[in-house]
Amino acid sequence: MTVIPFFNDEKRYHGCRRSAHGCRPDSRKTIEAMTPQLVDSFGREHTNLRISVTDRCNIRCFYCMPAENVQFMDRKDLLTFEEMERFTRICVGLGVNKVRLTGGEPLVRRDLHKLVAMIAAIDGVHDIGITTNGILLAEQAQQLWDAGLRRINVSLDALDPVKFKEITRREGYEQVIEGIQAAQRVGFDPVKINAVSVRGMTEDEIVPFGKFARETGVELRFIEFMPLDADNAWERDKVLFAHEIIERLSAEIMPLIPIPDQNPHAPATEFVFEDGIGRVGFIASVSQPFCMNCDRFRITADGKIRNCLFSLEETDVRDLLRQNGTDEEIAAAVKACVAAKWEGHQINTARFIQPKRAMYSIGG
Ligand code: 5AD
Ligand code: SF4
Repeated sequence: MTVIPFFNDEKRYHGCRRSAHGCRPDSRKTIEAMTPQLVDSFGREHTNLRISVTDRCNIRCFYCMPAENVQFMDRKDLLTFEEMERFTRICVGLGVNKVRLTGGEPLVRRDLHKLVAMIAAIDGVHDIGITTNGILLAEQAQQLWDAGLRRINVSLDALDPVKFKEITRREGYEQVIEGIQAAQRVGFDPVKINAVSVRGMTEDEIVPFGKFARETGVELRFIEFMPLDADNAWERDKVLFAHEIIERLSAEIMPLIPIPDQNPHAPATEFVFEDGIGRVGFIASVSQPFCMNCDRFRITADGKIRNCLFSLEETDVRDLLRQNGTDEEIAAAVKACVAAKWEGHQINTARFIQPKRAMYSIGG
């Protein structure tokens, strides 16, 4: 594990229980922060907050957004950076130690690096990440790094530029590739690539992606297509399953070996090619749901807490943030929302109901 100096302050509890890291609680405040407060009725502790900073996006991936005429949120309804920072601070007081910024496309939110710096400065946040489509990354990578960002996931579903355009319904392939290269130059290591795996679309990309991972050092992550598309066109038959990709890579490049001792809360199961070169992860949300290990909750750009990607209900905190709600009231709203989390998504059952919000307004 690479220890990032920014977070390597032994006095701070950073979510790690390994004494080898010197992570011993040494103050009352630290002990309080260690008491898990965001626990649901299945005993799952929630330490991982995902903040959607905007629902706007500069491309239109078919598995996420409608092609045209998207109804974006009113700008006045979006949380300000100060509101997001305050919300994060309250959540850190409840045990959150990991934050990821998502969208829409987070880099279209002006001065995002300032938000990164504000969150990085919160005592107790030991890990900040971002999931971006990479189009604006080349121009922002250095600023983001300087602000304290260390984890970056770039969504890219095809290495073939023609297919990229079919999927995203926009131009931008070269900018994404430049963004990935810029992020690597600045020091992000590894840069992770998220590729949604869709039957009929992804098959021809598997081997090129495997080679790309081996040649460039990016870490690939295939994510099974989930029913969160704005067009409501998802069907189980359209999901290309993780095991199919593993078989293909193993047969056509070389065997993939599972990486031992993985973080049980990480949704991706990770593999490495037999010769040690090239990592590939799989988020098998449909074929192998990991809901029982879920430690995440989300806040949308308009200030609604969601305890699951697939929630049908959400809890508003924007009014509390804007109308003199106290930290205690906001904390109580977060706790209640997490406590009410259901066991898991029902994608594989007849009971499944697709949420009204599509991925771009949830944040992924
Ligand atoms: N199914 C699976 N993954 C999706 N993403 C967006 N929509 C879907 C979907 N319907 C991915 C994006 C991004 C991450 C936030 O989620 O590609 O990498
Ligand atoms: Fe934009 Fe991401 Fe949705 Fe693609 S998946 S349209 S990049 S928000």
